[in-house]
Parts: sequence; structure tokens; C-alpha cells
Amino acid sequence: MALLRACKRAYAEVIQLEKFVINGGKPLIGEVSISGAKNAAVAILPATILAADKCVIENLPDISDVAVSLQILSALGAKIRMLNKNSYEIDTSHITATQVPDELSRQMRASYYFLGALLGRFGSGKVAMPGGCNLGPRPIDQHLKAFCALGAQDSVEYGMIEVSGRPLVGAHVFFDTVSVGATMNAMLSAVLAEGQTVLENVAKEPHIVDLANFLNMMGADVRGAGTDAIKIRGRKALHGCTYSIIPDQIEAGSYMVAAAITGGNVLIKNVIPKHLEPITAKMELAGVIIEEYDDAVRVVRTGDLLPLKIKTMPHPGFPTDMQPLMTVLLTLARGTSIITEGIWENRFRYVDELVRMGANIQVDGQVAVIEGVPELQPAPLRASDLRAGAALVMAALAANGTSEIDEINHIERGYEGLVEKLQGLGADIRRVEKFVSVLPQAL
Ligand code: EPU
Repeated sequence: MALLRACKRAYAEVIQLEKFVINGGKPLIGEVSISGAKNAAVAILPATILAADKCVIENLPDISDVAVSLQILSALGAKIRMLNKNSYEIDTSHITATQVPDELSRQMRASYYFLGALLGRFGSGKVAMPGGCNLGPRPIDQHLKAFCALGAQDSVEYGMIEVSGRPLVGAHVFFDTVSVGATMNAMLSAVLAEGQTVLENVAKEPHIVDLANFLNMMGADVRGAGTDAIKIRGRKALHGCTYSIIPDQIEAGSYMVAAAITGGNVLIKNVIPKHLEPITAKMELAGVIIEEYDDAVRVVRTGDLLPLKIKTMPHPGFPTDMQPLMTVLLTLARGTSIITEGIWENRFRYVDELVRMGANIQVDGQVAVIEGVPELQPAPLRASDLRAGAALVMAALAANGTSEIDEINHIERGYEGLVEKLQGLGADIRRVEKFVSVLPQAL
């Protein structure tokens, strides 16, 4: 036994993880500037492939999903030059590879946008088959429906999905479900197809419009983005351009919750207030004061929070990505709130963490019933996904005392400089290293 213990000690690996340590209970006060939109960036970066030219993309958020997208472009043969931490010049003229390396593809679900872009430019693309993730099943049947309507074929082999077909020919696609990813992928594959494509029952999120604007800057002819139908006249070729990504609606919404839940007063700058309307409307009903300026909103809370009924829906409905953040806010409302998740099957997994903080929440399927409590207690917490993790940060900021949040890699996929931005508002939050000893499976 002693020998076995010695062997285990000798072979134990020490891995370094990071966590957030948050000493909550202070109102956030000051100004914060919002970064570029993650969900626009992860589609626009693959879209540069369609230009076979140099593009300069500005206002890219400095987050790990963007880093992975740039690594994929580089692995495919693009030349990438960093201009500053938020701007890159990307030259896709020498790309010849059409297969996204498996290990990169698996790091980010949005790598499926490379399928549409590679198919559009080369008539073929291959990425790792996106698996289910912790929001519930995430099929891509609607993406494939669009590719196939344009004349491509798909096949799955050894965990990789390949789409190929040339020439692609414009078609009429009516989506069975409203999907952000399928709408964007269909646009990517159709802009260089022969003739006209009509996409109906499409998503209308601000990042759909941003991708259309970028494609049009490259010489594409995409009309109707932001409405239920998008018309695309295929072009023979596209060209490079300089483009600045829109501000991140969900990052802005997250700081709106941070201000409201801590009873603070925060000016949130570099936003498009129109994109925030679904969030603003609900927060005002909850008793939060919101002042709109041209490119900023001020969020102030002085009185009690009021309970709400919310159902998440495709844009312009209340965004699902704000659902965990809004749940956290409503844990402190005076009365009973009901949140219904209308997009994902399994997006309440973080609720157990909030219950450990003293929240009173019952979940039944896709409905959460929240009885407001006077305060949240600090606790050790674990981030299960990006937005759930951000929501736990907000809960910890509201709780009097010290909370620790593990698995923050999920959060850093989507929030640029979260710690620094919150510190700038007076929050007591630190990122600290944590060393964990792991025994090899064999022992
Ligand atoms: N769906 C299908 N078939 C498809 C595609 C989607 O049935 O082929 C279903 C999904 O299962 C889901 C619904 O349609 O029930 C909506 O899915 P959608 O395709 O719109 O989601 P997505 O494109 O995979 C993007 C964001 C998500 C955000 C959703 C909804 C990116 C990279 N991701 O995902 O963002 O929740 O739209 O707005 O743009 C996040 O940022 O934390 C995040 C998860």
C-alpha cells in the first residue's frame, strides 16, 4: 500500500486552473466600455475566406473564441497580422486547405461557420461534427438543409462533417426553425452561388445584420437582413474591405444586470441602444432606471426590484443568452417571477448553484419559478457555461462576503477583460491561480 501511495504521489500531475474570487456587496459605480460582439465576430472571421483578399477587421473582442477562429484561419493558410489587440489584417488569398483541424474545430462550436465559408469559396469544407453541448441538443440539420438546397451534399465520417458541391446554384430555402447559425451559414454559402437565393423564416439578431453588412462591404448583394426573409444575388467574386464589428448586446446586458443587482449607477458606453431594447424593456418593468443616449445607456437602481414574467424568444424577443443573468437579478425581486426558456432545452443547470446561495427557484422543464429572497449568500461556485458563469459572477457581486467561481474558462470565451472592467466599476474581484493535483487514470 505504501509503495502504491508513493507511486501515486510521484505520478500525480499538478495542473494549474484559474478561478475568480469575488468579495461582493458593493454597489458598482462608474463607466464601462463594451467590446465587439462575439457572435458576430465568430461568423465574420470565417467570412473573410470568401474575399480571397485582405480584410481588416476592427473591434474584435479579445476573447478565446476569437483567438480560436484566428488560429483556424491561420491553419487553413491565411496570413494574419495583429494591428492592435482588437484589430487584425487577414489575408485569405493563399488559402488552399478546406479542412479545419479537428483539435481547433472542437474548441468552439461556432467553427461550423467555416463549413459555409469554405463551401462558398472552394465548393468543399470539412469540420468536426458539432456535438451536443450543455444547453441541450444542438442539431445542424437546418444548416445542411440550406447547403443541400444550393446543390451541395453532406457526409459524416469519423466525427467529421463534410459538405461539397460545385457549382452552387441559388435556391429558395424555408427554414423549419428560426436559427442564427443556419441563417448565417446559408448566407456564407450563397453569396458566391450562381443566381438568386431566398432565405425565409430567418433569424433577425443584430449579428445577422452585421454579417450581411460585412458581406455587402466585400461586394456581395445581400438584402433584407433583420427581416424574416433575406435575398441574395450571387456574385462571381468578392473583395477585401475594412470592417468594424458591432458592440456586444449580451455583454452590455450583463453590465446592465451588474449595475442593477448591486444597486449601482453605471454608464455603459459603446452600445447600440436599439439592440438593447428587449433587455431594457424588461429591466424597466423590474424597477430599474435606464437612460438612453446615442451610444450609451445609464443604469441606476435605487428602489426594490419587482418580479417579472419572461419568455426567451428569437430576436426581437428577449434573448436566451440573457436568461441566466435575468434569473439572477430576479432572485432578489419582491415577489414571484416566472422565466420560460423558449430556445434551448437545458439552460437552467446553473440554478442549483444559485440555490446554494440562498435563492428560491423551482425548475420544471423549461420553466423556472423564482420567489424573491432578501439577499444572496456567498458560496463556492462552478461555471457550467459562458452565460451561466457570467450570471454567477453577478450573483457573487450582490452577495455580502467572499465567493469563489471555478471553471472560468467558460466565461473568458465570451467576455473581454471582465475582471478589469468590473474592477473599474469598484468591484472587488480577482483572478487567482489554483493548483490541482490529478492522478493518472491508470493508477
Ligand atoms: N436548431 C435546430 N436545427 C438547426 C439549428 C438550430 O433545430 O440546424 C434549433 C436549436 O436546437 C435551438 C434553436 O434552433 O433550439 C436556436 O438555435 P440557433 O441555431 O439559433 O443557435 P446557434 O446558432 O447554435 C447562437 C449563439 C448562441 C445563442 C443562440 C440563440 C453563436 C455562436 N451562438 O447559437 O449563443 O444562444 O444563437 O440566440 O452565435 C452564447 O453566446 O452564449 C450562445 C450560446
